Amino acid sequence: MRVLFLNGPNLNLLGRREPGVYGTRTLAEIEAEVRRVAATMDVEVEFRQSNHEGQLVDWLQEAVGRFDGVVLNAGAYTHTSIALRDAIAAVGLPVVEVHLSNVHAREVFRQTSLIAPVCRGQISGFGPGSYLLGLYAIVSVIEPRKLGWNP
Ligand code: DQA
Repeated sequence: MRVLFLNGPNLNLLGRREPGVYGTRTLAEIEAEVRRVAATMDVEVEFRQSNHEGQLVDWLQEAVGRFDGVVLNAGAYTHTSIALRDAIAAVGLPVVEVHLSNVHAREVFRQTSLIAPVCRGQISGFGPGSYLLGLYAIVSVIEPRKLGWNP
């Protein structure tokens, strides 16, 4: 099983970006932790980050046939991007939306996700743990038996 982790704008700054909101872990550290856990489930992961909306759309389109699912932290594009929403709907791959912070406890403009209706679900507010929970969520959608589930 192959899972693509996509990260949107400003997530390359994790570690020094508003640490009171997003914590002190870098994206590379989060990736290492996700890789370690994914390996225990025999899941292959790939991490990418871009500050550019169109690049994220391209990566979503290219994921078809190469990945079984996507874990997406779209950053601020979560709240603005019809293009990302349309790409998720178009590709038909399962996508889990993740956020480090609890977007529902923050500014009103963060409480709307344009991508949530086309994602399988949303994980928000667990810091770096949101990425690990995102991994478990996407695995539970694709191959629940890997988690010892037999739904
Ligand atoms: C974020 C929440 C977004 O509102 C914000 O624009 C981000 C990060 C999060 O992970 O908490 O860039 O997606």
